[in-house]
Amino acid sequence: MKNASGPPIGPGAPWLAPLAGFSDLPFRLLCRENGAAAACTEMISAKGLLRDFKKAASAGPHGASAELLRTVPEDAPLVVQLFGAEPDCIAAAAREAMGRGFVFFDVNMGCSVPKVIKTGAGAALLRDPDKAVAVGRALFRTAGEGRAGCKLRLGPDAGSSAYADLARRLEDEGAAWLTLHPRHARQGFAGSADCAALEKLARSVSIPVLASGDLFSAEEAVKRLETGVRGVMFARGALADPGIFRRYLDLLAGRVPEAYTGAAGAAFLLRHARLARALSAERAGRSGIPCALLKMRGIAPRYLRAFPGVGRFRAALAHCAGWDELNALTREFFPDSV
Ligand SMILES: Cc1cc2nc3c(=O)[nH]c(=O)nc-3n(C[C@H](O)[C@H](O)[C@H](O)COP(=O)(O)O)c2cc1C
Repeated sequence: MKNASGPPIGPGAPWLAPLAGFSDLPFRLLCRENGAAAACTEMISAKGLLRDFKKAASAGPHGASAELLRTVPEDAPLVVQLFGAEPDCIAAAAREAMGRGFVFFDVNMGCSVPKVIKTGAGAALLRDPDKAVAVGRALFRTAGEGRAGCKLRLGPDAGSSAYADLARRLEDEGAAWLTLHPRHARQGFAGSADCAALEKLARSVSIPVLASGDLFSAEEAVKRLETGVRGVMFARGALADPGIFRRYLDLLAGRVPEAYTGAAGAAFLLRHARLARALSAERAGRSGIPCALLKMRGIAPRYLRAFPGVGRFRAALAHCAGWDELNALTREFFPDSV
């Protein structure tokens, strides 16, 4: 770790990536139990957060952005990822969050969802490096030394290497770390991660670089360290297998990682469901079914997709209206696993 006041960064400290719609409190805890050393929130609109804090101050309902900050003491170290295009707004949102106990922050400079881009935030900042630097500077100064970083893509379009110059400027402004998902914004998830760009970035800045992109197995993550990055960040790999952190740490330590089995998948599912039931807001959807359970119904088959019976399991889940029923179904379909 470069700075004692920062989050853990190093080969032995794998991070859970920010994952909109997925890196919520229950999933973060599940990943931490399985070896994640730090975790990021889903990206949160700085503007939305300020609006929600204001509403809460006037005793109104908490909004969707503030809801994304739901946490518990075991959910640390936690990196709050903000998106926004206005330096003042980013700084104000971070300040308010710091007043509520949040310490580490990250700016999203890679999201290419139209809703985010059209506000000038996310990957749109790669088109406007001066603005990106101003946003970064505002956050780094507010959060304090060692406490905030940025997550970048290569650039807005194919052929662009906007990240290279931007990264050096962000370092000069006080970024404590940089994460690179080495694809262009327009590329989405097509093609493959550009490892040469990671190598170039790791060589050109002296702050730690975290590798993101195509880390679907422990082996790929260990290999990615050869680019010279300081650490790795699991995203889709963790969604499919929250045990990927442990497998990666085992491999790094020279131990043979356990294979991913049906038993492990069912155990992840049951544990995730238990955390979601205990920690999610008790809101019901239009059907009267808790929103957290509806979300869990979508997530559940993911852990078991490689195992026989998952198609029928998915179909049965569509009618599952209660948490106990979800548990019973899992045990019924995968009796040898739990
Ligand atoms: C469903 C989903 C949601 C994501 N949400 C965010 C986000 O909120 N903020 C962000 O910086 N990146 C987000 N990403 C990008 C990931 O953090 C990561 O950089 C990307 O998936 C590449 O890593 P991978 O190929 O190992 O999955 C998201 C990716 C996915 C698949």
